[in-house]
Amino acid sequence: MSLHEAPEYSDIKVFQVKGKHIVLGISGGIAAYKSAHLLRLLVKQGAEVQVVITPNGKEFITPVTLSSLSGKPVVSEFFTANTGEWHSHVDLGLWADLMVIAPATASTIAKMANGVADNMLVTTYLSAKEHVMVAPAMDLDMWAHPSTQRNVATLRADGVEIIEPAEGELASHLVGRGRMEEPENIVKRIREYFNRSESMTGLRVAITAGPTYERIDPVRFIGNYSSGKMGFALAEECSARGAEVTLIAGPVAIETRSPRIRRIDVESAQEMHNVALGEFAASDIGIFSAAVADYRPLKAESSKIKREHNDGMSIELVRNPDIAFDCTRSRRPGQVFVGFALETDDEMANAASKLERKGLDMIVLNSLRDKGAGFRTDTNKVTIVTATGEAAYPLKTKREVAADIVDAIENLMGARGESCGD
Ligand code: PMT
Repeated sequence: MSLHEAPEYSDIKVFQVKGKHIVLGISGGIAAYKSAHLLRLLVKQGAEVQVVITPNGKEFITPVTLSSLSGKPVVSEFFTANTGEWHSHVDLGLWADLMVIAPATASTIAKMANGVADNMLVTTYLSAKEHVMVAPAMDLDMWAHPSTQRNVATLRADGVEIIEPAEGELASHLVGRGRMEEPENIVKRIREYFNRSESMTGLRVAITAGPTYERIDPVRFIGNYSSGKMGFALAEECSARGAEVTLIAGPVAIETRSPRIRRIDVESAQEMHNVALGEFAASDIGIFSAAVADYRPLKAESSKIKREHNDGMSIELVRNPDIAFDCTRSRRPGQVFVGFALETDDEMANAASKLERKGLDMIVLNSLRDKGAGFRTDTNKVTIVTATGEAAYPLKTKREVAADIVDAIENLMGARGESCGD
């Protein structure tokens, strides 16, 4: 197998901005003057744009300019003072196919990262169901400050797409990173997003996620450290690309964001197995990201095992079914199955052996030897292995890793001539 570069989004086939509902959030920075141009470009391409501006934003660009360009009244306050009319951030959040915040100041980024809902822009963000893009703009030291970088990392982990600021001369006349990306490039990212957002339309995806708990008695179980973050990120990514997603989740403490994800909660490996057989059979793409316990106690006690009755104890374990193996055994032509390999030693050899043994089309290898990879973290570092090669990726947020994995699945389907729903 040869090592090659991770692919980038490159083959953008159709540009679909026309008719899309976009909320353009504008916060109070000098780059707000560029938002008028961004708005004009989007409207020219047929998008319906609703501007939401912070009170400080209005100091930099007037609502009259923005409403003339968008053809809609600009929303800024929770209420219209003279009529008492309430502006519903919930309705706006539901209306939007995409929310773009450009420029996003350090303050707005901090509020978004921490849920400080004290203006219409942040409340709309908190109500947004669809994808959110943020184009930061600020002085170079503010951008580089650990506090800003922490907040940006939080937004990334929450699935927000950050359009990195460019380098150049800033409002302070200092030169460095902090300039809002040019409107033309933001529009390009928006087009790429909409193109991506429909790439899996019509496809059914089944995903296992999280740990399984194998009951010892009513208060104890055998489990593992999986939080479900990797599997949930995959579910969100597939849903964002238009797929019908069924997520079979072990016991985890996280919620799904997209209302389109059908979630089935299970506890044990046997329960996951029972649900998965039917769901994976009905899917076009199956992703096994769960950390399934390989063994369970032969007998689950119905009462709590008492400490004082036992000097020592041993639990007899029996093997759990291999969900991935059983699902791929009865595969239909055209189905694509992707497994994970969580390793501590001989990573590549173990991943390659699992690929073959479990009848998978792709294995996503993550190693506990890599800092920031594997269980519970918001980041992961993976190598995607197929029968024809492997691609190693740097450490990224789990949502970004999910995008890389889904890109790789789409490429594999494209190479086989199977429909990716375009
Ligand atoms: O949930 P997080 O905290 O975000 O952590 C993510 C993760 C580390 C759990 C995830 O990235 C990951 O590596 N998941 C697979 C973990 C694992 O169980 O690997 P494995 O090498 O033991 O299993 C290989 C493959 O077979 C996996 O796709 C697994 O889902 C599947 N399997 C394993 C055993 C079993 N009985 N049934 C299975 O389907």
